[in-house]
Amino acid sequence: MKTEYKVRSAALADLHKIMALYREVTLQFGGIAREADEITEGYVRNFLEKSLCSGVILVAENPSDPEELIAEVHTYTPGIKVFAHVFSDLTIVVRPGFQGRGVGKLLFGALMKEIEEKHPEILRVELIARESNEKAIGFYKSFGFKVEGRMEKRINGTIGRLEADIPMGWFRSFCGESD
Ligand SMILES: CC(C)(COP(=O)(O)OP(=O)(O)OC[C@H]1O[C@@H](n2cnc3c(N)ncnc32)[C@H](O)[C@@H]1OP(=O)(O)O)[C@@H](O)C(=O)NCCC(=O)NCCS
Repeated sequence: MKTEYKVRSAALADLHKIMALYREVTLQFGGIAREADEITEGYVRNFLEKSLCSGVILVAENPSDPEELIAEVHTYTPGIKVFAHVFSDLTIVVRPGFQGRGVGKLLFGALMKEIEEKHPEILRVELIARESNEKAIGFYKSFGFKVEGRMEKRINGTIGRLEADIPMGWFRSFCGESD
C-alpha cells in the first residue's frame, strides 16, 4: 500500500522540530551547505519567520508519528522593493531515511502549486545547489528550473576541494509565451 504523507504549512511552534530535521540532514554527505553546529535556533528562526511573513514554508509529517517532521521546504522574498517579484533562499530537506520515496517530489510540487496559485506577484524563484549534488540539480530541473550559470570555487567542503555552486531559476510562464 502506498504511504500517504501529510503536507501542511509550518508554524512558529515547529521551530525545534525543523531544527532536529536539519541537524539530521547535515549528517549526510553533500546535501545542504551548513554543518550540524551551524543549525542554530537563530538560523532556523530567521528563515521560519521570513517565510511566514513574506514567503512559503511547508513541512511533511512522519505518518507513524505526526509530531515528527520528515521534510521541509521554504523560500521568501529578499525584502527590498526591486525584488518583490522574487522568491529566493530556497532550501528543501528530506530526512535521510525517507529520501527516494517521493516525499521531496510531493513537497516541492505543493510548494510550486502554492506559488503558482496563491502568489501571482512572484515571477521568479531562485536557488543554488552545489555542483556535486546531481540528485538535487536533476530534481529541480524536473520542476522546470534552469541552470543559470556557475559560481566557480564557491563552496568548500564535502568533496575535498573547492567546487562550483550552480544558480538555478524558474519563471512564471504566461499564456502564449514560449521559451
Ligand atoms: C534532494 C531531495 C530534496 C530530493 O527529495 P527525495 O524525497 O529524496 O526525492 P524523491 O524521491 O521525491 O524523487 C523525486 C525526483 O528526484 C529526481 N531524482 C531523484 N534521484 C535523482 C538522481 N540521482 N539524479 C537525478 N534526479 C534524481 C527524480 O526526478 C525523481 O523523480 P522520479 O521519482 O519521477 O524519477 C532530498 O534527497 C534531500 O533532502 N537531499 C538532502 C538535502 C539536499 O541536498 N537538499 C537540496 C540542497 S540544494
